[in-house]
Amino acid sequence: MYLDQIQVQNIRVISSAKIKLSPRFNIITGLNGSGKTSLLESIYLLGVGRSFRNHQIKTVISNEQQKLTVFGKLSGQRNITLGIERDLSGSYRVRINNEDQNRLSSLAKYLPVLVITPESNKLISGGPQHRRQYLDLSVFHVKHQFSERWQRYSKILKQRNALLKSCSSYKELSVWDVEFAALAVELDEARKEEFLQLKSHLEDIQGIFLPQYRVQYTYYSGWDSSSTQSFIQQLENNYQTDKRYGYTNLGAHKSDIKLTVNKGTVQDIFSRGEQKMLVNAMHLAQARRLSLGLDKNCMILIDDLPSELDEDKQHKLLGELSKLTKVQIFMTCISKEGLVDLNSIANLEQTQKELEVKWFHVKHGVVSETETNKD
Ligand SMILES: Nc1ncnc2c1ncn2[C@@H]1O[C@H](COP(=O)(O)OP(=O)(O)OP(=O)(O)O)[C@@H](O)[C@H]1O
Ligand SMILES: [Mg+2]
Repeated sequence: MYLDQIQVQNIRVISSAKIKLSPRFNIITGLNGSGKTSLLESIYLLGVGRSFRNHQIKTVISNEQQKLTVFGKLSGQRNITLGIERDLSGSYRVRINNEDQNRLSSLAKYLPVLVITPESNKLISGGPQHRRQYLDLSVFHVKHQFSERWQRYSKILKQRNALLKSCSSYKELSVWDVEFAALAVELDEARKEEFLQLKSHLEDIQGIFLPQYRVQYTYYSGWDSSSTQSFIQQLENNYQTDKRYGYTNLGAHKSDIKLTVNKGTVQDIFSRGEQKMLVNAMHLAQARRLSLGLDKNCMILIDDLPSELDEDKQHKLLGELSKLTKVQIFMTCISKEGLVDLNSIANLEQTQKELEVKWFHVKHGVVSETETNKD
């Protein structure tokens, strides 16, 4: 199943666009400010219900308009129509096959969307929440109870933190800790399992992208999971520290993936372009995991693919992207000349025709298809 058609209304500079897409490679060119990222944002909105750029939907709705709309048609074994409308107040209307849905998250089950933007290097240089979100995206698709459990966990965490500020002994907290610890352990198990799956794809792809490095990927639970003490015991032992901070310092909300090489962290040692390639490898590993491991179609949006990458790295990235099956790719760049020649993708005899490349050009928010399947 892939996104066959998309219709966009009132997303930033794009007042209206209707395009038919390629199931594989869609390349969007255009000058700065023309609306390339806005088009990716529209696809993401359809897949996830919100923007990847800004959580405030009002900034995404075109100036002087009341609401935005994205409509899409998925084709494959089944044909499915998806629609989302969001207005200035933040409220939404989601329709799947013309039926209203109660939750924004109903969209996310259909087509996982992975997005790589120039800001994605936060996955390496930013706080643990970025790497948790990365891991949780896969876990969400593997374990269907995951997001419900995570919401419950977060609610108890909030109550526990509030109680920490007022309580006078651990006893008052202990009633909460039974469920809190059980949920933390359940979330941790799911994450740990998924991490191992992702890691094997990641080692493989990173070996191609950055063969000079041996990156160590280590999952951290959010507490000492190698200790003989159970998590609930650790919570009790940590009570004084938590009380001092007024905050729970151990738990599934603290988990992380540590990325290190021999001498230190990846962030301290890798160049910008190398960091970008590792971020790309992490997303491609996820696409492989979803498409091969779970037999799920997914989309990858890559904003400004050529930026900071030399020709060799672009070749490697495009070469690995072209090997992915069941993955629909959307990428932007300023111009065709800024991107390596697709016909020269290393080790691949595939022509643009076999890659099913569609080219789109955006000018002042107007999207047009320029050439298709030319080799
Ligand atoms: N709510 C809005 N209404 C109308 N226009 C907007 C709105 N928000 C942003 N814009 C404009 O949309 C334009 C397109 O932005 P977009 O980020 O999609 O461009 P781009 O083609 O990705 O450019 P770049 O190559 O610089 O990344 C910008 O010039 C911006 O001023
Ligand atoms: Mg852009």
